[in-house]
Amino acid sequence: MKRRPLVIGNWKMNGDRGAAVRLAAAAADVAAALSGVVDVGISPPAVWLERAAAVAGSARVLAQTSSEHTGGAHTGELSCAMLSEAGATGTLVGHSERRQFNGEDDAVVASKLREARESGLEVVLCVGESLEARDAGATLDVVEGQLEGALAALDQLAGIVIAYEPVWAIGTGRTATPEQAQEVHAAVRSWLARRFGEAAAAATRILYGGSVKGSNAAALLSCADIDGALVGGASLDAAEFAAICRAAAA
Ligand code: PGA
Repeated sequence: MKRRPLVIGNWKMNGDRGAAVRLAAAAADVAAALSGVVDVGISPPAVWLERAAAVAGSARVLAQTSSEHTGGAHTGELSCAMLSEAGATGTLVGHSERRQFNGEDDAVVASKLREARESGLEVVLCVGESLEARDAGATLDVVEGQLEGALAALDQLAGIVIAYEPVWAIGTGRTATPEQAQEVHAAVRSWLARRFGEAAAAATRILYGGSVKGSNAAALLSCADIDGALVGGASLDAAEFAAICRAAAA
């Protein structure tokens, strides 16, 4: 079964309002051109969500993170309801930069995922091993541990996308080879099948992330279990992002 590819641009903490509007409008163009063939998404900084969503057309708009709390005394946090009202239909959860620099452990990731699902947001759950873990041969242990940590309390996978992002490939220009990525994607899908059943696993999109660009997207996206990409740096260049989206259509 071939799943419709999904390509999401994660802008991280980059750009200004003008750039956000320009990139969102460009994403709308590529989403329209590839309608029904590739799903396109953008993940802008939260302050530009509303403006970006206004011009994003059929491109889906995701928050980069969301609170595990529904509301209340949580200074600086943004609830899923607020993000939805600003135009987000989904959110990233557990991005490695949040895990590394914002102290988000598996318990926090699980709470955020639960809150986002209960609020009706689509979740892109990010998992991936460090270089030390890969060198130690512990890649699958780490990735499966992160899946278990985030998904243990869930009874179904609807509304969940998985993004496999090896930490050593994020923002480093060093991409996993298609063979390395496919191996982990296949392992993730069999873990999902054991936990949620074959049909649910076959229907779930597993994206690759880590230095994806126009020149390497086609080789990665042609792998059987790679259903799209979560793109950081290259998504800040509209032409490069469009090239990645087109590669997903091939
Ligand atoms: P990168 O980031 O494409 O800049 O490596 C990917 C990500 O962090 O989602």
